[in-house]
Amino acid sequence: MNITINDINIEYRDEGYGLPVIFIHAFPLNQTMWDEQVAALKNHCRVITLDLRGFGKSDVPAGPYSMDQMASDVRGLMAALDIDRATLVGLSMGGYISLAFYRNYPDAVRAMALADTRASADTKEARERRIKSAERAEREGAKAIADDMVPVALARSTVKLRPDIVERMRAMAEANSPEGIAAAQRGMSERRDSTYILAAIDFPTLIIVGSEDALTPVAESEALRDGIRGASMHVIEGAGHLSNLESPHEFNSTLTQFINSLKD
Ligand code: MLT
Repeated sequence: MNITINDINIEYRDEGYGLPVIFIHAFPLNQTMWDEQVAALKNHCRVITLDLRGFGKSDVPAGPYSMDQMASDVRGLMAALDIDRATLVGLSMGGYISLAFYRNYPDAVRAMALADTRASADTKEARERRIKSAERAEREGAKAIADDMVPVALARSTVKLRPDIVERMRAMAEANSPEGIAAAQRGMSERRDSTYILAAIDFPTLIIVGSEDALTPVAESEALRDGIRGASMHVIEGAGHLSNLESPHEFNSTLTQFINSLKD
């Protein structure tokens, strides 16, 4: 389905009934990265996914795309769907956006699951790497970014033994426009530090991370867990950065338990 939010066309899915749960995808992918989660969770809650601006089938307006802008798109989608409060599930960039969403709309968050992400802003070096990557996307196209990301976003064992997952990640990344990829990279490079807001979080929070996550290592998730009162954390052994794609069963059972606990 698609809808106009903040003057652009946003593609989204809305399945199941009950507690609204919004899934926010990673960079440089699209909402189909959540297919297994939609299938597993739609019998437990109302599952909403979207292609963020610049990705999948959504429009690709001029960038950079700040995390606040993408959080505003999520808020706009909620308003259009008549949802006042939702549980957010964000993986990596989706986690940065979830934290920006909480900063801007604290009353609209029921609970949060943060997977393979971090609260801190980029270091100077990381920022410079991102700008180079944005320029590479514009110069050489989406395939160059997929080439760069596959070896770091997936665990080594996944790269070696699971060509289906490698192919799926590549297909998602390569289908995106270089302009969207560059605009999101520039937006992430400018993102604000969210560490200072963690202590104010007063709703249930689940942290999930793959033990082999090379992009947002387990220590980043431990920092999130330690910063958020009452947060629980689950490490998926053997999974890399894209833990929901690499270990969907464990990811889904952990998330389903968390979502069902919100209904008590
Ligand atoms: C992602 O998976 O969303 C990206 O790795 C995030 C990032 O580059 O920091």
